[in-house]
Amino acid sequence: MALSILLLLLGLFLVVEPLSVAAQTANISLGSSLTASQDSSAWQSPSGTFAFGFRRIADQDLFLLAIWYDKIPDKSIVWYANGDNPAPKGSKLELTTDGQLTLTGPRSQEIWKPESVLSGRVAYAVMLDTGNFVLANNNADYLWQSFKDLKDTVLPTQVLEIGEKLNSRQTANSYSQGRFQLQLKSDGRLVLYPIALPTEFAYQPYYQSNTSDAVDEMNSGYQLSFNESGYLNVVRRNGNIDKLINKMSMSCTFLISLSQLFDYARL
Ligand SMILES: *[C@@H]1O[C@H](CO)[C@@H](O)[C@H](O)[C@H]1NC(C)=O
Ligand SMILES: *[C@@H]1O[C@H](CO)[C@@H](O)[C@H](O)[C@H]1NC(C)=O
Ligand SMILES: *[C@@H]1O[C@H](CO)[C@@H](O)[C@H](O)[C@H]1NC(C)=O
Repeated sequence: MALSILLLLLGLFLVVEPLSVAAQTANISLGSSLTASQDSSAWQSPSGTFAFGFRRIADQDLFLLAIWYDKIPDKSIVWYANGDNPAPKGSKLELTTDGQLTLTGPRSQEIWKPESVLSGRVAYAVMLDTGNFVLANNNADYLWQSFKDLKDTVLPTQVLEIGEKLNSRQTANSYSQGRFQLQLKSDGRLVLYPIALPTEFAYQPYYQSNTSDAVDEMNSGYQLSFNESGYLNVVRRNGNIDKLINKMSMSCTFLISLSQLFDYARL
C-alpha cells in the first residue's frame, strides 16, 4: 500500500496547500491573552491562512488550544497543545509580560505550558503563514516553535530530525495519543508502526523506507522533509534525496476528501 494512503488510514496526515509568500508578520506582544469560549478570538497568520487559539471539542464544554487552517470550511486542526488535558470554558492563554506562554484554568490551575523553551527572553509570539507558531527573542531567534512539538500532522516546510515522531490522535474528537507512530529512526529509516499504550512498545511496522545503509553511514537518512512543492523526502547524510511521496499521489489522495477519510478511518 502506498505510504500516503497508509498515513491517511492511520489518522496521521500531511496537508498541502499552496503557501502564500507574505513576508510580513503580525507580532503578538507580551501581555496579550485569549480566553476559551464559544466565540473567542484567535491569533491569525498575516495572510489569514492559519489561526492559533481555542477550539471547542465537539459535544463537550471543553477546549483545545490549537492551530488550524482558517481558510477552509472545516478548519482542520493541524496542531494542539493540551490533547490530554482539555481546558474548561473560561481558561486563559496568556503571553505574560515576562515572556511566558501559559494556559491556566478558571481557578488559575496550570493546564499546559510549552516544553523545551530555549533560554533567553521571549519578546513576542507570531503565528506564521507556514503554520508554525513561534516564541521569538529580540533577534527573531525562535526560542520555541510548534513545528518542534510534533503531534499528528506535518506541514510543508516542516522537517523531522532523527528520533522525532508523529503520533496519531485517539479518535476524531479525542486528542490524546493514539496507537500509531511515524518515526525517523536513528539508522535513517522512516518507519510507521502501531504501538502499545502507555508503554509505546512498537509492533511490526506497516511501512519502512529503504533509507538505511549499515555499511556506509553517510548514505543513511537523517532528515524527513516535507517541502513546499508537496514532496515528502528523506534526506541522506551525503545529500542524496529519496522521494517517498510526490505531489501527484498527494493530490490524488486529497481529491478523495480528507475529512471523509478521517471520519471512517481514525482508530
Ligand atoms: C516583530 O518584532 C520584532 C522584534 O522586536 C521586530 O524586529 C519586527 O519588526 C516586528 N514586526 C512587526 C510587524 O511589528
Ligand atoms: C534498498 O536499497 C538498496 C540500495 O539502493 C537496494 O540495493 C535494495 O534492493 C533496496 N531494497 C528494497 C527492498 O527495495
Ligand atoms: C521538493 O522535493 C522534490 C523531490 O525531491 C524536488 O524535485 C523539488 O525541487 C523540491 N522542491 C523544493 C521547493 O525544494
